[in-house]
Amino acid sequence: MIPDITKAVTLLQSGGLVAFPTETVYGLGADASNASAVRKIFQAKERPYDHPLIVHLARLEQVHEWAQTISPQALKLAERFWPGPLTLILKKQPHVLDTVTGNQETIGLRIPRHPVAHALLQAFGKGVAAPSANRFTHISPTTAAAVYEELGNKVDVILDGGACEVGLESTIVDMSREQPVILRPGMITAQAIADALHIPAILSEPGERTIRAPGMHHLHYAPTTKTVLMATQAILPFLAALTPDEFPIALLTYSDLSVPRSAAIHQVKMPSKAAAYAHDLYHTLRLLDNQRVKRIIIEAVPLEMEWGAVRDRLGKASR
Ligand code: TXA
Ligand code: MG
Repeated sequence: MIPDITKAVTLLQSGGLVAFPTETVYGLGADASNASAVRKIFQAKERPYDHPLIVHLARLEQVHEWAQTISPQALKLAERFWPGPLTLILKKQPHVLDTVTGNQETIGLRIPRHPVAHALLQAFGKGVAAPSANRFTHISPTTAAAVYEELGNKVDVILDGGACEVGLESTIVDMSREQPVILRPGMITAQAIADALHIPAILSEPGERTIRAPGMHHLHYAPTTKTVLMATQAILPFLAALTPDEFPIALLTYSDLSVPRSAAIHQVKMPSKAAAYAHDLYHTLRLLDNQRVKRIIIEAVPLEMEWGAVRDRLGKASR
C-alpha cells in the first residue's frame, strides 16, 4: 500500500477529512458513519446542511449496507457502469445518518474507478461520504492544486492522483422511483442509460428540481468572474460593441471562429470533441477566473446528446 493511503485511512478512522481524486472530480471525504466527521465536510465547504452527500464504495456487495434494495434495473446500471462516473439514488437503510442524506429517504451511492480512490476505499473498507472538494457554489476541482486553492488547510490530507480523466461530476440517476430519472447529466448519457435498461430514462424537469437536487442552487458550478454563454454568430458583433473599459475579456471557443488578435482578448481554443472539452473545462475556467478579466465569454456548444453534460455545466456557470 502506498504510504499516503495508509495515512489517509488512519485519518478517516479518526474522523478527519481526506481529499482524494476520482475519475470525475476530486472529492472531500469523511467516514460516512461518523456524524461529527460528516459535519466537518459541510463546515469546510460552507455548504448548507440539507444538501445530501454521495457515499463512495469499493465494491458492489457493500451497496446492501447502505441501500434497502437494489432493483434489477438499478443492478443493470451498476453492473454496466461501475466502477465509473455514475451515482445511483436508492432507498436508504434506516441506520444511514440524516447528515448524509439531508433527511431524505434515499441515498446516493457511487463506486469510482480512479485507482487512488479505489485503493483508499478498499483499504478503509467502509463508505466514504464525499461531495466535490470545492467551496459551496464554486467550480469542482480537477487537480490536487485546485483542491488546495479551494480548501487549503481545512483538509487533513490531499491525495494527489493527477488531473481527473472525465473532468465533470458523475451522472446521477434516481432509481428509487417508478421510472429512472436523471437528476444530473454527466458523461454517461441518457442514451447510454436507456440502452443499458432498454427503457427510456427521463431527465428531471427544472420545476421539479428542488434545492436538494444536484446543482440547483443559483450560481452552482460558477466562476466568480461574470460569465456569459453566446451563440457563435453573436460573438463578433458583441465584441465589436464593447467599450474599451469593458476589456480585457476571455473568450472560450471550440469551433474555428477567429477573433481579431488583441492583447485585450484572451482567446482559449477548447477541444472540439465533447469528452476532451469536458476534461479541460473546469481547469480552464479556474485559470481564467484567476486572471482578473472583466468577463468570460463562452461559445455555446453543439446540441448533440454527447455534449449534454457540458451544456448543463456551462448553463450553470453562466447564470
Ligand atoms: O462525480 C461526483 O459525483 C463527485 C465525486 C467526488 O464523486 N461528487 C459530487 O458530489 O459531485 P456533490 O456533493 O458535489 O454533488 C452530489 C449531488 C448533490 O448536489 C446532491 O444534491 C446530490 O448529489 N444527491 C446526493 N444524494 C442525493 C439524494 N439522496 N437524492 C437526490 N440527490 C442527491
Ligand atoms: Mg459539488
